[in-house]
Amino acid sequence: MYNQLISKKIKLAVIGLGYVGLPLALEFAKHFSVIGYDINQRNLKLLQSKIDPSKEIPQESFHNRDIHFTSNSEELRDASFFVIAVPTPIDKYNKPDLRPLLSATLTVANIIQPGDYVIYESTVYPGCTYEECVPLLERVSGLRVRRDFKVGYSPERINPGDAEHSLQDTIKIVSACDSESLETTAKVYESVVTAGVHRAPDIRVAEAAKIIENTQRDVNIALMNELSILFNRMGINTYDVIQAAATKWNFVPYTPGLVGGHCIGVDPYYMVHKASELKYHPQMIASGRFVNDSMGGYIAKQTVKKLLSNDLPLLRAKVLILGVTYKENVSDIRNSKVVDIVRELQSFRVAVDVVDPHADPHAVEEEYQIKMLPKPGGKYHAVIVAVAHKDYVKMTENDFKELLDPKGLVVDLRGVFKDTIKELRYWSL
Ligand SMILES: NC(=O)c1ccc[n+]([C@@H]2O[C@H](COP(=O)([O-])OP(=O)(O)OC[C@H]3O[C@@H](n4cnc5c(N)ncnc54)[C@H](O)[C@@H]3O)[C@@H](O)[C@H]2O)c1
Repeated sequence: MYNQLISKKIKLAVIGLGYVGLPLALEFAKHFSVIGYDINQRNLKLLQSKIDPSKEIPQESFHNRDIHFTSNSEELRDASFFVIAVPTPIDKYNKPDLRPLLSATLTVANIIQPGDYVIYESTVYPGCTYEECVPLLERVSGLRVRRDFKVGYSPERINPGDAEHSLQDTIKIVSACDSESLETTAKVYESVVTAGVHRAPDIRVAEAAKIIENTQRDVNIALMNELSILFNRMGINTYDVIQAAATKWNFVPYTPGLVGGHCIGVDPYYMVHKASELKYHPQMIASGRFVNDSMGGYIAKQTVKKLLSNDLPLLRAKVLILGVTYKENVSDIRNSKVVDIVRELQSFRVAVDVVDPHADPHAVEEEYQIKMLPKPGGKYHAVIVAVAHKDYVKMTENDFKELLDPKGLVVDLRGVFKDTIKELRYWSL
């Protein structure tokens, strides 16, 4: 398989060209002949013009790559090595929504041939590949796993907006259904991941490893969020406490904040789902989710309290929120928890303006029915720095004075201005 791929006798296909699939496909296309397949026509047109719809990848990265973008599944028949990187979100009940994963699996199941490989990159609960995907592949294709085709799992670890930990520089976990296919899969990934690969002994181990990476972060952030609620009652600044504690060698400096996006705030629910099937109630994981999901409402209520205690007129209060993306310096607005702050403030009839240089205003309006402003409009009673975008981190106290009523409040969720705001009223998590 590997020799045929490298000599371009056969093709590699990446199904799903989003934050994970596109960089991977472009990297593979340095070595192999690649088909990039996606069902989103709008994005596909951009990709065919060498434009990354999520604005993460520069145009140069499309140059000199052997890649063909298509939404025609018939063209996938030219491929023998399939990599599936479609979304694995949760539904409104916080249950895994496997529809995109199963639909992409069905696409492959319809064309798969004996000898082919199917590798999953999407984050799933341990057991999902064998329990959900393989039966569909077998039923539709009439082929048998291991005997006729191989299946593998290699979770993605990229961190959007983080140039330091790229696909090439981060060790990648690979796993497959038998030792022969594990070696082939490892070799294919080794050609793009210079940091090397880790061979997991079993697909379920690799699935579990991915889920716990994010679950561990979620639970740790929840602990800091809970501590910040407590320290707020004590009148201590959490970031001061963390700075002091971090001088000990084994203290891990997690910080409080909103946990949005499509990974950390979602993946633990996949684990909770699997645990319930096994009749186990994972209390640590579930309470981490509870704390983190409550933070938007908590921040809004604290802001209202501070406005009232500053004698500011709540019914005519105007609050500016800086940042709506799920994290700093990215344009991704999926599962933004800033929206929880907006909704809670609005429930107190506070007027809220939102600005963000990274977010697409149309996407924000479509997804959350929030009309963003191109820039702040007038004076505000509070400014909430919700996302620490580079443009916001460099703001000075004078910049905030320009935006605020003299009695106005700076709410600094990431503790960025802890030492620089001296005169204005200030509150951070
Ligand atoms: N974004 C990250 O930082 C990140 C990191 C690690 C793991 N992951 C995981 O990787 C997976 C993909 O995430 P993402 O952020 O790249 O998602 P995304 O939403 O950015 O992209 C997914 C792409 O798949 C396409 N798609 C959906 N259904 C399809 C189908 N049936 N056939 C073909 N294409 C289809 C969509 O049109 C979209 O372009 C998820 O399981 C996610 O949890 C994401």
